[in-house]
Amino acid sequence: TRPGTIYEAIGGFDTIDKIVTEFYKRVGNHPTLTPIFPDDLTWTAQKQSWFLTQFFGGPQLYNENRGHPMLRRRHLPFEITPERKDAWLECMDAALEEAEIEEPYRTAIFEKLTMTAHHMMNTP
Ligand code: HEM
Repeated sequence: TRPGTIYEAIGGFDTIDKIVTEFYKRVGNHPTLTPIFPDDLTWTAQKQSWFLTQFFGGPQLYNENRGHPMLRRRHLPFEITPERKDAWLECMDAALEEAEIEEPYRTAIFEKLTMTAHHMMNTP
């Protein structure tokens, strides 16, 4: 683990795992989001753990397992409206709270994810 990364500062693998678990618990119960997600979120959560690990400076697990992220392209099959973007971020905000991510990391993480979430919208 590279020192000085957000990944390292928040506690590495265990913390990413906690965030992802809490996040998909909420996604799986959010009426705005469930129509576009699979019923079984196990594989979705695995991919997201790989992605967030590398996004926050940890090992390049997503690239190793899935190749280049091309996240906007991978989201094109799903209708991502402004309402779904807000719902996604709401679930993430609650997950960061539940995982007790402290400042300044919490704000840094949320800002990075907010920018990416905006980029995923593909449906008015
Ligand atoms: C996959 C929805 C934003 C990262 C998916 C899938 C859906 C989805 C329906 C397919 C599930 C699956 O492949 O198992 C959304 C919605 C978003 C959003 C509604 C709202 C803006 C984001 C953001 C990120 C992200 C901001 C990254 C920070 C991923 C990753 C995958 C994924 C890594 C798996 C891609 C793969 O198949 O390798 N998302 N997403 N998503 N999403 Fe999102």
